[in-house]
Amino acid sequence: MTKPQTYFVKTFGCQMNVYDSERMSELLAADGLRAVDNSDDADLVVLNTCHIRERAAEKVYSDIGRLKASKRPSGVKPMVAVAGCVAQAEGEEIVRRAPMVDLVVGPQAYHRLPAMIAAAANGKSVDTDMPIESKFDLLPKRARPTGASAFLTVQEGCDKFCTFCVVPYTRGGEVSRPAADVVGEARALVDGGACELTLLGQNVNAYADDGLGIGFAQLIREIAAIPGLARLRYTTSHPRDMTDELIAVHAEVPELMPYLHLPVQSGSSRILKRMNRAHTAESYLATIDRLRAARPDIALSGDFIVGFPGETEADFEDTLSIVRAVGYAQAYSFKYSSRPGTPAAGMDGHLDEAVKSERLARLQALILEQQLAFNRATVGRRVEVLIERHGRKPGQLIGKSPYLQSVHVMAPGLAIGDLVEVELVSAGPNSLEGKLIQKAAA
Ligand code: 5AD
Ligand code: SF4
Repeated sequence: MTKPQTYFVKTFGCQMNVYDSERMSELLAADGLRAVDNSDDADLVVLNTCHIRERAAEKVYSDIGRLKASKRPSGVKPMVAVAGCVAQAEGEEIVRRAPMVDLVVGPQAYHRLPAMIAAAANGKSVDTDMPIESKFDLLPKRARPTGASAFLTVQEGCDKFCTFCVVPYTRGGEVSRPAADVVGEARALVDGGACELTLLGQNVNAYADDGLGIGFAQLIREIAAIPGLARLRYTTSHPRDMTDELIAVHAEVPELMPYLHLPVQSGSSRILKRMNRAHTAESYLATIDRLRAARPDIALSGDFIVGFPGETEADFEDTLSIVRAVGYAQAYSFKYSSRPGTPAAGMDGHLDEAVKSERLARLQALILEQQLAFNRATVGRRVEVLIERHGRKPGQLIGKSPYLQSVHVMAPGLAIGDLVEVELVSAGPNSLEGKLIQKAAA
């Protein structure tokens, strides 16, 4: 196989995969490959995969099937690389099941992609090491212009071992990047045009640079102080690591947006114990109270799993109750999916799909109602909106409010990356209409 000239990266799953895909793209570009915006035109197709639920993991195989069947203009079969969490979890098995795949590279080993591409001329190459060397030290420095809003991975992996979750196995234990590197990368992103950064980690609030004694709260303060940075966000956080100092930062740092994704998973303390979540429904609600005391307008988002093994109707009703007690601005809910190798897969009391589907529908109806209520409550207010993309209608732009709401504005004069003052005039469950008041001072 000759060395590929062009590449296309397709991303599945979470924001950390979006970040990893960007870094892989930069690496491939530095290796002399050119990006194309369609897998049919690419000599190398990278599928950056997600293993969190069964349906996510299966998508990679249907995509490989599609690649195999596609009639490409060149008639030449592309080199196919499977990256991300399916690569880590299934390794060699992928090549056995899908012989079209040439490379399998785990999330901690993708800095080795150029060498693997060179080696692929001589046969398949699988690398799911969790190497001692850090990929971050070996990836090219961030130099490309970024969008107005950029992701920045500060921490990876998880030591919490929730019994349903594959992340501790696919991403490894909790590792934080050195604070100096993170702040340096944040500066480079701001210099490249970003005015909003989202700090990423599987357990981002467990961040700790032990060498310098810098915890997550301090990291936020340092990044927020970078000139030109207007907005800072972070995701995903664990309730157990919401320290007093971190909660205080929500009151003290104006750049930190009033929005927090804080998954609870279930409202039943009995199920939370079976999930090994290390918090109860009551301790979660107490954390929310502390957050709201620090930042009264903070909007909350969460993740929920319905139909965990052993979940009774009463447990599920506790989940509906906690949703009512918190009042979420947004929330993501999933049917429990049994993942090979996790403790919950071997538990008693797995539920029928029909029960899970019925509970999910009830939970999602409640969440939708809450999203609509939250959005309606902001109508009439003036908020800053960061313009991110063009809408479908001519002259329409779409951006994000501080509360991460999608806001549509008719304002043909605006550009992507503008931070503008908007009056919210009407609301649906998933987006709002806004009227441009003025361009905010830069
Ligand atoms: N089944 C269903 N949902 C899951 N999640 C993680 N593992 C599973 C699973 N096995 C959900 C959790 C987590 C989100 C990223 O995905 O809610 O917070
Ligand atoms: Fe998975 Fe739990 Fe770790 Fe989140 S905290 S990544 S749900 S094991």
